[in-house]
Amino acid sequence: MNAVGRSLPHDSAHGHVTGSALYIDDMTPLAGELHVDFVGSPIASGTLTGIDVRAAMAINGVVAILAHRDLPGEKRLFGPIFHDEPFLVEEEISYIGQPIVIVAATNREIARAAAAAVVLQCEPSLPILTIDDAIAKNSFLGPRRKIERGDVDAAFAAAPHRIEGVLRTNGQEQLYFESQACIAIPGELGSIRVISSTQNPTETQSVVAEALGLGLHQVVCECKRMGGGFGGKETQSALPAIMASLVAAKTGRSARIIYGKDQDMIVTGKRHAYQTSYRAAFDDEGNILAVDVSFHSNGGAFADLSTSVMERSMLHLDNAYYLPNARITGQACKLNYPPNTAFRGFGGPQGVVVIENILQHIAQSLGRDAWDIRRLNAYRDGDRQRSLTPYGQWVQDHVIQEIFSTLEQTSDYRQRVRLIDAFNERSSVYVKGIAMSPIKFGISFTSKFLNQGNALVNVYTDGTIQVSTGGTEMGQGLNTKIRQVVADQFGIEPADVIVMTTSTEKNNNTSPTAASAGTDLNAQAAVVACEQIKAAMSSFAANRLSSLTRGIAASTEHICFVDGYVYDDRNPENRIAFGPFCDMARRERVDLGARGFYATPGVDFNRETGQGTPFFYYTTGAAVSEVTIDRFTGEMIVDRIDVLMDVGKMINPGIDIGQIIGGFVQGMGWCTNEELVYDESGKLLSTSPTTYKIPNITDIPSQFHVDTIENPKHRINVSRSKAVGEPPVMLGISVWLAAQDAIFRATPGRVVEMPLPATSEVNLITMQNRLAAVVQPT
Ligand code: MTE
Ligand code: HPA
Ligand code: MOS
Repeated sequence: MNAVGRSLPHDSAHGHVTGSALYIDDMTPLAGELHVDFVGSPIASGTLTGIDVRAAMAINGVVAILAHRDLPGEKRLFGPIFHDEPFLVEEEISYIGQPIVIVAATNREIARAAAAAVVLQCEPSLPILTIDDAIAKNSFLGPRRKIERGDVDAAFAAAPHRIEGVLRTNGQEQLYFESQACIAIPGELGSIRVISSTQNPTETQSVVAEALGLGLHQVVCECKRMGGGFGGKETQSALPAIMASLVAAKTGRSARIIYGKDQDMIVTGKRHAYQTSYRAAFDDEGNILAVDVSFHSNGGAFADLSTSVMERSMLHLDNAYYLPNARITGQACKLNYPPNTAFRGFGGPQGVVVIENILQHIAQSLGRDAWDIRRLNAYRDGDRQRSLTPYGQWVQDHVIQEIFSTLEQTSDYRQRVRLIDAFNERSSVYVKGIAMSPIKFGISFTSKFLNQGNALVNVYTDGTIQVSTGGTEMGQGLNTKIRQVVADQFGIEPADVIVMTTSTEKNNNTSPTAASAGTDLNAQAAVVACEQIKAAMSSFAANRLSSLTRGIAASTEHICFVDGYVYDDRNPENRIAFGPFCDMARRERVDLGARGFYATPGVDFNRETGQGTPFFYYTTGAAVSEVTIDRFTGEMIVDRIDVLMDVGKMINPGIDIGQIIGGFVQGMGWCTNEELVYDESGKLLSTSPTTYKIPNITDIPSQFHVDTIENPKHRINVSRSKAVGEPPVMLGISVWLAAQDAIFRATPGRVVEMPLPATSEVNLITMQNRLAAVVQPT
């Protein structure tokens, strides 16, 4: 009986379906609890000149109305990297929806009515709404960064072939089902307890402390679970927590804020839209000789995580390919939108899509199959010459080439290309395309200090265990995996382990549950705690077992915890069941609890020089997607997807496969249907699931094959697993590439330049422009 490697159902699977898994707004209100809402800026940029709350105050049931002047602390600005974002607008307005006035009332309807009754006076100024405008006006967030290797200019000058272009990729809404939510409860000694839907309890604790002028020891942040986060609750859970806490501190009453879905979509940041200029040089065979890439992102109005997201884009420009000469620059731009933030992939998708676009264009311009061009340029394990990334990390112990060859067989790629050609010749209405793209995703936070975790493991006298870590559960199955790893440590049933609510009271100074590293950091910290407990238990067990037998004496280093028993591995007959054993140990005053700490070894990256080893290892994989596009409407259907990934030895195969499918579909959404639409004043028009289309069940291809590949060379990380949360998102890019391929097949000629996502409109316009270009030679 092995707890690790089993497809146990998600901890909350039953609760999710029956409704017994509670989210913040399901919690019973405390006596006197207030509902909090806020008034956001109606304009994207300008000056706040007046606030009139008289009408709002007059509404029966309104208890408090707070604005910037009511902030009790000395600090006025917050932010995870740069402290540049005001808690509340003082004068300068930076985006539509930016919080200006907080209202608190006895119920939600009254709070909403009060917010609507607040009158704001603002003087608008001209907002910056495009990346081009930001560049023209030098409106930037943080410094421009560079990663460079080799002699790029010389390689370009000598190259037989060159391509260049500008790729625009759109943003993406996280669309977690549970909106931003928080309950703040005032306590003794000026303290406050914050129950937040957050991926980042420590960050929430510290922004609340700063906004209220408290010490960190006066603030506790808890998170039981989120109804999805997808990066959107890594930093942006801060503002609702600040607002609820301000009300709680001012009124002495519990305060609850739950964003409405539209409100959430309007005021919170999203995946960064990018505008990327690129040049690539290559030889007759399609070998990349040099790339020169310049990224600009729409960072929104404040820095948030934009510089960190940009860093990950730059670190993923190579994706799975060796780039002998590379110049990669990145600059986040300051625009008048909500600050853009983490979203699954964290800049990775925006980097990967650029090199994949380049490879597709190399294939198109040489008239070669794109698969072959990709394989030619892909990293080969053991080929030391070609295994160094542009930032100086060796890519090793991977199976990228094996993934190419296996997937070529299992997806029947060559035969399907022939069938697609035949289909396209027959059909005057539809056109098919196919594309493969790999991923090599770096695992670790690129900021070294975040690569740490701590865990508290409490063993009780019946042999059951409670575990607490800084990791948060957002549906990804972290708690289930931690439970399995801890059960495995003691050789007991996973049902005898429960992962408790995350709280900064039990685990301090934690990293956000992000960068796909939740299990890597927190489960490993739990293992460290288990090892400490087992060390104490083992010396006690050796004594006790020796006293029970006349045979061989038991000794500490031979004690094992297997199948619910404790014994000396040389004498399995002489054993004690784990439950009674724990009770005996306590009676002999053995410590049955421990705090474990883990710091990822070996990672370091110098962002000034653009060199280092930012990643502990890489998660890799590839996908093949086939699409059909209507030549007359541009409408696209995804016919078939084949995914193959190396995610190490899976702690829970069911959960990992679920993550691969979910991640792929979310990436596919970014590449196809998800379209953020703004008006000319910077106002978001696609503010609900009816106007913003995430993939639904009918968008899932009828053939969706997901498989994993063994990698015996991967011998590090907890239980030799690999992080799985974000990497599959970037495999969704194969769908966009397949759309590009279909358009190329429908309208052969020069390379297909198209933006992302490949909506019906984009597909149609791209095809029409290409046809028009053929008809009217210039
Ligand atoms: N899966 C679900 N169901 N819900 C989520 O919000 N977030 C993703 C991914 N998978 C998410 C998810 C993101 S952005 C990350 S970084 C990882 O889960 C975080 O969790 P992990 O590190 O434990 O994998
Ligand atoms: N990934 C995700 N979230 C992060 C990172 C990262 O590399 N750095 C800071 N927050
Ligand atoms: Mo995930 S974007 O790192 O929260």
